[in-house]
Amino acid sequence: MRAYELWQLVEQAARLPGDILEVGVWRGGTGCIMAKRLQIVGSEAKVFMCDTFCGVVKAGEADTRYVGGEHADTSEEYVRNLAASFDVDNIEILTGIFPDDTAHQIEDRQFALCHIDVDVYESALHIFDWVWPRMPVGGIVVFDDYGFPACSGITQLVNEKRGMSGAVVMHNLNGHAVIVKTELPPQKTAFQRIFGR
Ligand SMILES: C[S@@+](CC[C@H](N)C(=O)[O-])C[C@H]1O[C@@H](n2cnc3c(N)ncnc32)[C@H](O)[C@@H]1O
Repeated sequence: MRAYELWQLVEQAARLPGDILEVGVWRGGTGCIMAKRLQIVGSEAKVFMCDTFCGVVKAGEADTRYVGGEHADTSEEYVRNLAASFDVDNIEILTGIFPDDTAHQIEDRQFALCHIDVDVYESALHIFDWVWPRMPVGGIVVFDDYGFPACSGITQLVNEKRGMSGAVVMHNLNGHAVIVKTELPPQKTAFQRIFGR
């Protein structure tokens, strides 16, 4: 059901300006599904697939089950082979911790859709904070594992985002939380830009 939701959302996101960002690729399943859908709808956008390829990082107090290092049983080569079997070439793989190690490579891009599937609070928070200002109105962030006991940090993070301005936060009972950008933040005046208030 979650894969199907991504499949459907890609078709809608493809009408917006921007690429797709996935952080938390593991063996490439969801990223390749999104790339295939982009290809089918005739979009020129790419899917940037970001993973450490050595497992989960930044586990902390909010995360009851993850300790770090899980899901290391994959490789960039595994994902490239899966992409070839899907007959898609609209992907780019960024290897390392995102955003810390790799975000500078895509700093100036805009993203219509972001799939955050990293299992723990701090990683997900850093990714969300990086991508949100790079999304147009209508941009969509999908958090995997919302509401799952093993990923308590993801549930906590999304719950903290409820009520944020310029967004609608939805809990889909399939284990996704979805945040849609509804407006851009107000522009700062020249005075605020210069004096910071
Ligand atoms: C549950 S798996 C992803 C599953 C995948 N979406 C699928 O389709 O099967 C979580 C992945 O997140 C990666 N990860 C966690 N935090 C990360 C971060 N900050 N930067 C890059 N990769 C990260 C881990 O290496 C792991 O492969």
